[in-house]
Amino acid sequence: MSRFRVSAAAAFGLGAFLIAPLPAAAQSAADVAVLAGPCANCHGPDGRSPGPIASIAGQAEAALLEKLKAFKSETPPAGTTIMNRHAKGYSDEQLAALAKYYSQISATAPAAAKGKK
Ligand code: HEC
Repeated sequence: MSRFRVSAAAAFGLGAFLIAPLPAAAQSAADVAVLAGPCANCHGPDGRSPGPIASIAGQAEAALLEKLKAFKSETPPAGTTIMNRHAKGYSDEQLAALAKYYSQISATAPAAAKGKK
């Protein structure tokens, strides 16, 4: 009985540890890909937008980070409709990771995918 309690408590403790957010510095490439998931809804798969919303793939990392920080700030650029609200959901470290992630994606689709119908 007492042994059961100890292991149950240990299991609970481990669960809480796993659920706790990781420090931003420990974010793996997979974590950033998860963070980037919702962006695809509006900016297209891999940030290459097929529609009127700007593509974010392949932009310079510093430029992306500057835009994201401006969206998150109390004074977003005039005309901002969505990103001011969206950017507030991410820490500065997460925005930096996202800027790096999208800067490393080619702005054009890989050659292998072109011409396939
Ligand atoms: C609900 C739709 C939507 C989602 C989701 C979304 N965006 Fe945006 N994004 C926009 C729109 C619309 C703009 C144009 C600015 C505005 O009106 O907010 C924009 C603008 C931007 C810009 C500036 C592009 C440029 O070159 O001017 C960046 C960078 C950006 N978004 C990054 C992201 C990232 C990173 C994510 C995911 C974390 C994301 N967006 C998710 C709709 C979205």
